[in-house]
Amino acid sequence: MHAPPYDEETVTALVTAATAAPSLHNAQPWQFCWRSATRTVELRADLRRAMPRTDPDHRALHLGCGAALFNLRVAAAHLGLDIQSRLLPDPSDPYLLAAVRIGGLGPPDREASTLFPAIERRHTSRQPFADRPVPADVQQALRDAAAREGAQLLFPGAWHLEALLDHVRDAEGRDALDPERLEDLRRWTHRGAQATDGIPDHALGPRPRSGRCPQVRFEEEQVEGPATAALLRAAAQADVLVLGSRGLSGFTGFLVGSVALGVVARAARPVVLVPAGGTGADGYETAGPQGSGRRDVVLGLDLADPCDEVIEFAFEAARDRGSRLRAVHAWQSPVPFGFGPGEIGLIEAPWRADEWRDFMAAVLQTWRDKYPGVEVVETLTEGRPAAPLIHAASGASLLVVGRRIAQGPAPARTGPVAHAVIQHAGCPVAVVPHE
Ligand SMILES: Cc1cc2nc3c(=O)[nH]c(=O)nc-3n(C[C@H](O)[C@H](O)[C@H](O)COP(=O)(O)O)c2cc1C
Repeated sequence: MHAPPYDEETVTALVTAATAAPSLHNAQPWQFCWRSATRTVELRADLRRAMPRTDPDHRALHLGCGAALFNLRVAAAHLGLDIQSRLLPDPSDPYLLAAVRIGGLGPPDREASTLFPAIERRHTSRQPFADRPVPADVQQALRDAAAREGAQLLFPGAWHLEALLDHVRDAEGRDALDPERLEDLRRWTHRGAQATDGIPDHALGPRPRSGRCPQVRFEEEQVEGPATAALLRAAAQADVLVLGSRGLSGFTGFLVGSVALGVVARAARPVVLVPAGGTGADGYETAGPQGSGRRDVVLGLDLADPCDEVIEFAFEAARDRGSRLRAVHAWQSPVPFGFGPGEIGLIEAPWRADEWRDFMAAVLQTWRDKYPGVEVVETLTEGRPAAPLIHAASGASLLVVGRRIAQGPAPARTGPVAHAVIQHAGCPVAVVPHE
């Protein structure tokens, strides 16, 4: 008896190549089924991986599955197999997208087989585009490749390109304001290092921090009156208030002026202070091949008073940037003092470093569970907190600290740690108020 010519290994190789195809948010919205009786691989849409909000007509789902089918054809040609693929073979079953019959049908497609090494090499690049036209011969090669698949590839002219880019920016702006679409994004990005689908943080590439930012809509407003009061009114209606130090202080980038300090001390919402010339606010962050290449977000964690608003702000910031979160806690031994006769001293012994470490891990565990895509590093030091925080913040993209909101008639103030890091950290500092 002959060995079956299309064994499990062969079919697995074909499907492995198919699943290396690109798909929207790498959701891999496909399923493959091998029908040995008819030597047919069936490709089905997997609707559990569809995106009803981002891709309501399943256009992108079809494109991804089309790419998977193309890879499968290339792999078959590479293995010397002749195949026949039929698109939408069953009109009553629209999610059976293709049936690929293998063998005995003619010579393998030699041209397709030359593409096989590219299956592994191909990856989506999210690096910034170079401002260079695609060379004419490359454009022609791409047009020819599309034509061979029965498609037409068009390169827009200059005004057409501007019009298209306007639409793209407009669409991105609208997407950014649509909570349901953002939910699709949240589902498929920042999924942690172990995930085999979705988009890992390191693939997201650099994000422009300056210049045109299609996700953000800008509105300008000129207001009259004292700056502190105007900024506090704006902060009250905002999720976050961002202040640059330029122009707010006589010593740009080092000392923060009285306006900013006044706002930080009273704002009911988080305030981010961006020092002129500091780290984290410059152009592109480079994405390295090993890690994300992004600067850390540093959290000044007060374990004597761990506060959800502050911790959550830091985790959200790290998640949104694709950054690592470095949580820093500085613990201090109680100051020794003498007891007089009959006085009662400390009943509980002061905590040791390992006890603080355990407590820190326990506090952060809840947040690690909530943000599995955020890598967390815990740093514990002994002594006053300001210096280690300023040290950890050098080269960071953001330092997050809390500010307790004064109760009753007590005057609004910024605590000594927040005050010190605002003045001396070389990166943006977020001050998050809490009860
Ligand atoms: C129909 C379709 C639409 C896509 N849209 C985007 C997009 O808007 N932005 C983006 O960065 N990547 C987009 N991609 C690329 C996918 O995110 C990428 O293919 C996927 O993450 C798998 O990664 P890989 O291409 O490196 O294998 C799209 C891919 C397909 C097939």
